[in-house]
Amino acid sequence: MNRIFFAALAAAVLLMPAHSVMADDDTELSDAAKYRETVMEAVASSFGGFIAVYLGKVEPKAEDKHLIANTRALAISSTLIGDLVPPGSEGGNALPLIWTEMDTYQKYAQDAADSTAELARAAESGDRAAMGKAFKAVGTSCKTCHDKFREEHES
Ligand code: HEC
Repeated sequence: MNRIFFAALAAAVLLMPAHSVMADDDTELSDAAKYRETVMEAVASSFGGFIAVYLGKVEPKAEDKHLIANTRALAISSTLIGDLVPPGSEGGNALPLIWTEMDTYQKYAQDAADSTAELARAAESGDRAAMGKAFKAVGTSCKTCHDKFREEHES
């Protein structure tokens, strides 16, 4: 596994819908749907923070501390993913399929919680190979859920 591979995976996962485009729709969204987007952005921010340090895009003082803090934040916010789709929170880029295939959504949410916890453990151990392996699993878990349950953004 190399840097280009990780960079490509990171780009695929973190690609966000353009907020300026969404601005008008946002006013129509329920608070529960807005909360889903807020938490998902927290998930993405901490994952992005880990990636920037892991790939050496930034060289912060006390690199280990940054790897650990970002992955802990990621693991904690990822435990909320399964709670982000209560009845009545439809909308945004969440596909209606979520509410008809809730068991699958919940399975993917659990996979994300498990894989991010594993990444946090790897960061704690300082083992870069283990971090790389866990990084890949996290990226796959984000992408698997988005491919099935999140609307594609062409713009
Ligand atoms: C179990 C399903 C699931 C998992 C796992 C998941 N997401 Fe999401 N994600 C969604 C859904 C659904 C949306 C659309 C939310 C909306 O627009 O209401 C979304 C939206 C997003 C957004 C856009 C936020 C916004 O403002 O609209 C980002 C960024 C994102 N996810 C990043 C991630 C990252 C990074 C991971 C993995 C660490 C991840 N997601 C894991 C389902 C998931």
